[in-house]
Amino acid sequence: MEKKTVIVLDFGAQYNQLIARRVRECNVYCVLLPYNTPVSRIKALKPSGIIMTGGPSSVSMKGSPRCDSRIFGLGVPILGICYGMQLMGYMLGGRVGQTRKREYGHADLVIDNKEKVFSGLKKKEKVWMSHGDQVLKLPKGFVRLAHTKNSKIASMCHPEKKFYGVQFHPEVIHTPKGMQIFRNFLYRIAGLKPTWTMRSFIKEAVRDMRSAVGKEKVVLGLSGGVDSSVAAALLHRAIGKRLHCIFVDNGLLRKDEKANVVDTFERHLHVNLYVADAEKSFLKALEDVIDPERKRKIIGREFIRVFESEARHLGKVRFLAQGTLYPDVIESVSAKGGPSATIKTHHNVGGLPKKMGFKLIEPLKDLFKDEVRKLGKELGLSDKLVYRQPFPGPGLAVRIIGDVTKKRLDILREADAAVQEEMERYDGYKGIWQSFAVLLPVKTVGVMGDERTYENVVALRIVTSLDAMTADWAKVPYDILGRISNRIINEVKGVNRVVYDISSKPPSTIEWE
Ligand code: XMP
Repeated sequence: MEKKTVIVLDFGAQYNQLIARRVRECNVYCVLLPYNTPVSRIKALKPSGIIMTGGPSSVSMKGSPRCDSRIFGLGVPILGICYGMQLMGYMLGGRVGQTRKREYGHADLVIDNKEKVFSGLKKKEKVWMSHGDQVLKLPKGFVRLAHTKNSKIASMCHPEKKFYGVQFHPEVIHTPKGMQIFRNFLYRIAGLKPTWTMRSFIKEAVRDMRSAVGKEKVVLGLSGGVDSSVAAALLHRAIGKRLHCIFVDNGLLRKDEKANVVDTFERHLHVNLYVADAEKSFLKALEDVIDPERKRKIIGREFIRVFESEARHLGKVRFLAQGTLYPDVIESVSAKGGPSATIKTHHNVGGLPKKMGFKLIEPLKDLFKDEVRKLGKELGLSDKLVYRQPFPGPGLAVRIIGDVTKKRLDILREADAAVQEEMERYDGYKGIWQSFAVLLPVKTVGVMGDERTYENVVALRIVTSLDAMTADWAKVPYDILGRISNRIINEVKGVNRVVYDISSKPPSTIEWE
């Protein structure tokens, strides 16, 4: 059965990925493409529907983004959102102009005509608006579906052609019935069925990977993080013992990390796992290195060296698997309005495919992070693994400010373990993006019993965030902070003071280095 696809055409909206996520939450597969994707490419994908996103431009501005006008001749249902609606109105012969007042925030939508898109909604609904322009005159064949106090035409449609426009943003949570509008467009208007599930994804991915790999071997660098772990579990389902995972113990890992990886992948999933014990060579290479960027470079270089040497023992391997995610491969539209390919290379294994002549296998490259978590659950991985917090590739080395030594690593590992244990007990833990300890290069005076001490300071970093681009220090209850502090000072030898970091990103960053 052919996979039914929806195309989300990106006009530079801040929340373009959110629209794609909403479509997928309706169990419909979709891809996000730049607004100026040629009609030939769009046609080749045989979309069942097209969604045009919002964007920061004004259609009357010179050089404002336009889609290929032949899209309107494909006979495919289209939903235009905000700028997408205005552009549809403008390109099809209507009139678009400025509103008297910029409409921003909650608005009361009055539905004049439910058509299919507002099916199941009440006559009046709350919606979220953010626009300066609006459609002032409908294009030929269109009818008005709704209005607000500020927008005479807050929604429109051409019933025969199945073109729909909404001036508000159904993708944001501030439009409570937004998901119903997406469901209406996808199921009632585009005739799609909610068939894209993690189970169907696994079936398809297994089939594709088997045919891509044939009888060959695949090597994968397992880090213990969510992405590489889910990629490993999925590949293992597809090709079993022909998957070879390499785990590099660089000595910069959290407490029990190696044991957990061995337990999950070797004991439970019976994956071929090779553990490279490389602590000594990493620490030697990091000796006396203080500059954070130098630390990162050295760790990256050592990783490649160790990985290569492990992979050589496997004989001829043609494929390297990586846990690249969809946000890393999206050809997104830049803030200035032009499309830009933002294809990132993976931190940990950058340089490997080129140097060693590997062909890349990226089984997660169509998925968002929350989908990868669902996939992991479907593949039988534990909640603890699937919902774990991000951990930087260079590990604890960038959480020890200054010199990285075995002694300091051991202190930080113990302190970090206490933070993790106490945070996991906290009922707000799911709302936390990252929580960890940082070892500072200062010593302070304390008293223990009758003795004066002169020991290290640990800083706690606990933040909330949606995507790590911005972050806020978490308002964790004092008793939790108190418990963490007590445990670290009492249990971790070499620490006599704990401080809490109350800086937001920007201007600070999440990590201290
Ligand atoms: P910052 O400190 O820049 O971190 O606010 C943003 C997010 O990125 C993670 N991070 C890294 N991840 N290699 C990684 O794989 C790195 O060198 C690195 N530096 C920061 C950080 O943990 C946070 O989630």
